[in-house]
Amino acid sequence: MTIQTPAATAASAAPLLEVQELTCRFGGLVALDRISFAVQPGEIFGLIGPNGAGKTTLFNLISGLTPPSSGAVLWRGTPITGLPPFRRNRLGLARTFQNLRLFDGLSVLDNLLVALRRQPGESLLGGLLASGSHRRADRQRLERADQLLEELGLEALAERPAGTLAYGDRRRLEIARALATRPSLLLLDEPAAGMNPSEKDNLCDLIGQLRRRHELTVMVIEHHVSLLMQICDRMAVLDFGVRIALGTPKQVRHDPRVIEAYLGGAPP
Ligand SMILES: Nc1ncnc2c1ncn2[C@@H]1O[C@H](COP(=O)(O)OP(=O)(O)O)[C@@H](O)[C@H]1O
Ligand SMILES: [Mg+2]
Repeated sequence: MTIQTPAATAASAAPLLEVQELTCRFGGLVALDRISFAVQPGEIFGLIGPNGAGKTTLFNLISGLTPPSSGAVLWRGTPITGLPPFRRNRLGLARTFQNLRLFDGLSVLDNLLVALRRQPGESLLGGLLASGSHRRADRQRLERADQLLEELGLEALAERPAGTLAYGDRRRLEIARALATRPSLLLLDEPAAGMNPSEKDNLCDLIGQLRRRHELTVMVIEHHVSLLMQICDRMAVLDFGVRIALGTPKQVRHDPRVIEAYLGGAPP
């Protein structure tokens, strides 16, 4: 029998991610104004809002790239507001970027291998001495890269320089790179941007599959509201840095503030 301490019980009951009263100012501009919500383990949580609403800024605050002006970010109930991005990544938080960040001159496979290098538990000294365990780690990395390429439908492109790929393939490579760090929370910033309609449909299926296979929680920013509504359990709507709605797609779709402020009077 496992006896849970009160602290362990509290931690397991805590949301995976919580943002509390997050505010971000750039000079006189309030990009985010006291944003609060919680994301539960296993959810696909959507973030929508017009251009400039503050969506990417919110991802930057959650991933640690931008410090908030005030407010807190909690990971499994523990504040991580001051942690740098690489520490948050080690905790299990990974993201993709609206403007892709790939090594264009490297092959698709090498882009993944770079992301897979130095996983937790691997010693640097072992690497320098090229020990048996290091070679084993190399082999495991290759196997894992192959597996991710196959999952993301990129295996036929493994040797191609990333810079020569079509946009949709580049976006999927970024997702593969983020998955390489074995995250429990994956933040996707406009993953469908630049994709054609059939790629967008496939992306919806893919996000669902990845959630199941990798036991992921996903936060996704998307411009195409209808696409997001198909795949999200819950969503938040931002407008000029303010959270104007929070709920299931059905609740959000019928929220008068969303219809007025964001959707110009017509339900999405
Ligand atoms: N580093 C920055 N410095 C100044 N203003 C910024 C910075 N980043 C974002 N902004 C501004 O904050 C607002 C929100 O931007 P952003 O989060 O990129 O919106 P979204 O992703 O919803 O389109 C915009 O007005 C944008 O110009
Ligand atoms: Mg953005």
